[in-house]
Amino acid sequence: MIELEPIVLPSRRATRRLAAALAPLLVPSDIVWLEGDLGAGKTFFARGLLRALGVPESIPVTSPTFAIVHEHEGRVPIRHLDLYRLGDAGELDELGLAEALEGTVAVIEWGRRLRGAIGERGIELVLEAPASGPGRLVRVRGVDARGRAIVDSLARATSLR
Ligand SMILES: Nc1ncnc2c1ncn2[C@@H]1O[C@H](COP(=O)(O)OP(=O)(O)O)[C@@H](O)[C@H]1O
Ligand SMILES: [Mg+2]
Repeated sequence: MIELEPIVLPSRRATRRLAAALAPLLVPSDIVWLEGDLGAGKTFFARGLLRALGVPESIPVTSPTFAIVHEHEGRVPIRHLDLYRLGDAGELDELGLAEALEGTVAVIEWGRRLRGAIGERGIELVLEAPASGPGRLVRVRGVDARGRAIVDSLARATSLR
């Protein structure tokens, strides 16, 4: 796995900017894993990413905590998942969740526990609120070769700013 140096996101705007830099690099079958504690900013990042993928402002992008998966249409089909409430890989199978991700960009909150059952691929962002002070910290890494290529492009895109 390649991992970037932790990136400081001093403001919501900085978070949205990172999401906007990531969006054009994604194609169907890519997975974006969003990890971090409650309130770390996973859903906020997902909203910025989905907007940048072309989901119009008129469509709310909310936490899929209870529905587990929200389907969206941007320039590509998108699935936004929150697996916090999901029991185990058996439940994943029952709901046909892994299959439902085929041909879509998947944005998955709280997915690490079930990554083996879904697919060890894509890019992972671990968000963190610093103990004191505003903003967030994010650690970005590629899970597989494709994920590492995305991280590489993202690093290049963000350092051009
Ligand atoms: N870079 C940032 N700086 C300050 N606040 C942020 C930043 N990114 C996100 N937030 C705020 O943090 C909160 C995180 O909530 P949410 O995205 O629902 O967290 P999670 O999905 O991880 O539980 C939101 O209210 C959002 O406005
Ligand atoms: Mg959330």
